Amino acid sequence: MEIINTVTQGVIEKAAKALRDGHLVAFPTETVYGLGADATNKKAVRKIYSVKGRPKYHPLIVHISSINIVDKWAVDIPDYAFKLAQTFWPGPMTLILRKNQVAKDFVTGGQNTIGLRIPDNQIALKLLEEFEKLGGSGVAAPSANRFGAISPTTAPSVAEELEKFMEKEDLILDGGQCLIGVESSIINCTQENPALLRPGAIDEEKIQEVTGIKLSSTQSNEEIRVSGSFKSHYAPKARVVLGKDAKLGEGFIALSHIPTPTGAIRLASPRSVDEYASTLYEALRSGDQIGLSKICVWEPTGNGLAIAIRDRLAKAASGN
Ligand code: TXA
Ligand code: MG
Repeated sequence: MEIINTVTQGVIEKAAKALRDGHLVAFPTETVYGLGADATNKKAVRKIYSVKGRPKYHPLIVHISSINIVDKWAVDIPDYAFKLAQTFWPGPMTLILRKNQVAKDFVTGGQNTIGLRIPDNQIALKLLEEFEKLGGSGVAAPSANRFGAISPTTAPSVAEELEKFMEKEDLILDGGQCLIGVESSIINCTQENPALLRPGAIDEEKIQEVTGIKLSSTQSNEEIRVSGSFKSHYAPKARVVLGKDAKLGEGFIALSHIPTPTGAIRLASPRSVDEYASTLYEALRSGDQIGLSKICVWEPTGNGLAIAIRDRLAKAASGN
């Protein structure tokens, strides 16, 4: 495995070739780092599962560079899904659509749907474009962490998670810190009304505003599996406790206006909800690095990204 710190055009070309040749390329997106493979190459996609230690039948998101490629993967796309794509792509949103025959079981986890996303990150977009120039159709990429662990938002965190499991020809492209810091919103677009399966930067209010359709609150399609919807997920090794003050030697994360309890170890003091999202995962990781056994977290209030942060924190807290 090679980490590449300065991602030039030459590096993009090398990485696209690596993907074409069936190797893995971890790359930055605006949400979190992804561990990418050619989404049509069974052997390459299988490697993603083994490197992540992920159960076999969890579907992967396919990343594409432009809206024109949606048809390559999906059929019966509802109008509201097009509206969402036109408004929020490139961006932190994954659409679940009915798949066509290009989307094989090894990428969809055997479901009749496919998750698609155009990421808003220059390295990711250039890589996808270059890969498509070589004949590629899309890059399957889950978050670049071991199954159940916290998504990495920096390249060193990707290496820390996966280095041991990656092969010599695999690459990690360093694009600095991810701007948003929590995973994309996942919207099920296979029904009459859209449904939000995983909250992210695009919240229900925005979805409703753009589509003009009320979201269905219950998930009627029982077939759908979202691995992030497992209760224990996004968890550091330390125990995460919500809404309690930290004691001597315990980790503490809260918005900057909340003072650090005496003797606690402050891991992050974000000044806004956006900054909270972009620093949270690295803060939890830093708690593990210094060997803390407990991290106390005060969640942000409000809508938008705050909902996504509370969702991930609730999962981290129920993880241990
Ligand atoms: O922000 C993100 O979405 C990042 C970056 C790398 O794009 N990716 C990401 O992938 O978070 P992953 O695999 O860690 O989480 C994707 C979630 C999984 O929980 C998976 O089950 C769900 O999306 N998913 C993918 N395809 C699906 C489908 N066809 N139906 C239902 N859920 C799906
Ligand atoms: Mg993940």
